[in-house]
Amino acid sequence: ENPALVDTYGRVATDLRVSLTDKCNLRCTYCMPEDGLEWMPGDEVLSDDELIRLLRVAVERLGITDIRLTGGEPLLRAGLERLVAEVAALRPRPRLSMTTNAIGLAKRAAGLAAAGLDRINVSLDSIDPGTFERITRRDRLPHVLSGLAAAKEAGLSPVKINAVLIRGLNEHEAAPLLGYCLDNGYHLRFIEQMPLDAQHGWNRGEMITAEEILELLRAEYTLEPSREERGGAPAERWLVNGGPGEVGVIASVTRPFCAACERTRLTADGAIRSCLFSTDETDLRRLLRTGATDEDIAKAWRDTMWAKLPGHEINESGFAQPIRPMSAIGG
Ligand code: GTP
Ligand code: 5AD
Ligand code: SF4
Repeated sequence: ENPALVDTYGRVATDLRVSLTDKCNLRCTYCMPEDGLEWMPGDEVLSDDELIRLLRVAVERLGITDIRLTGGEPLLRAGLERLVAEVAALRPRPRLSMTTNAIGLAKRAAGLAAAGLDRINVSLDSIDPGTFERITRRDRLPHVLSGLAAAKEAGLSPVKINAVLIRGLNEHEAAPLLGYCLDNGYHLRFIEQMPLDAQHGWNRGEMITAEEILELLRAEYTLEPSREERGGAPAERWLVNGGPGEVGVIASVTRPFCAACERTRLTADGAIRSCLFSTDETDLRRLLRTGATDEDIAKAWRDTMWAKLPGHEINESGFAQPIRPMSAIGG
């Protein structure tokens, strides 16, 4: 039997994205309603021991080489540093990264790096305090910026930044945000908004496309395609003003990269998803809690990935958004 997570299109998943919690301390308008969501019941969230067991199976039996911790907001997971140390102790040691909003990171970046975290991606859509608050509904820009500085200082590099542009809110801040990131050595990527918000408010006509993003940036900078190998990475990269600074664009909607996808996902409540947009998922928590063996778990995971669809269907008629919002899947 093939030990890897392969699908019927020949893709091999080596990159596991793990959501540690569905909770968040921001309320980005493109993600969650102002009042938040009904959070997962605590007894449904995997314990550290359960989580580590699944990650051990993934690393030892399924060929996972890269693990990304996500949320919700992963810094809200109690005992995160201990969990990071346990993941870093798995063999073969996976590369270990985290996607976070960086609130609270100023005090924790060094500890996380010491525990074994290799690098970090931070969500930041604006460096203007007023715009930041309009998007996230929280007045916390300084916490994010100090968190970023601490991450760089702690050697969590490269520090990458994810920015979503929202029409009428921050599109005019694309170029200044790039200037800020170039000045500080952060790798900025702009992301096309996807239909994954809890409110189901996504609208294709409103979305700022990759083409439009490039046009906004070209008003201030020259861009030329980077020659680096892209592999399975979602970002297309551009050299800024001849380099070495770069900017990335993640064009999930207008230029999908599903054919090169290397990902599998585990939600905080123990479901495996073969895609961000899967409508089916496999409940490993029930297996875990009813005495399944490691091989039973590995088989359920392989079967789930084998059934992976060729790609998302955002651009097809009849597309239906998954029931889980982004915050409960892990970005
Ligand atoms: P690295 O480049 O390795 O740092 O990871 P990454 O860019 O995949 O990670 P990150 O968590 O920062 O994700 C950035 C954005 O990529 C997310 O906000 C999503 O919009 C998008 N993204 C991540 N995974 C997928 C995926 O499987 N499919 C699609 N369509 N978009 C994804
Ligand atoms: N479409 C694209 N990206 C999104 N993010 C959150 N919601 C969406 C969406 N609907 C981004 C966040 C974060 C990353 C994990 O996902 O900005 O950086
Ligand atoms: Fe929180 Fe991320 Fe959603 Fe913003 S996009 S509300 S930071 S989970």
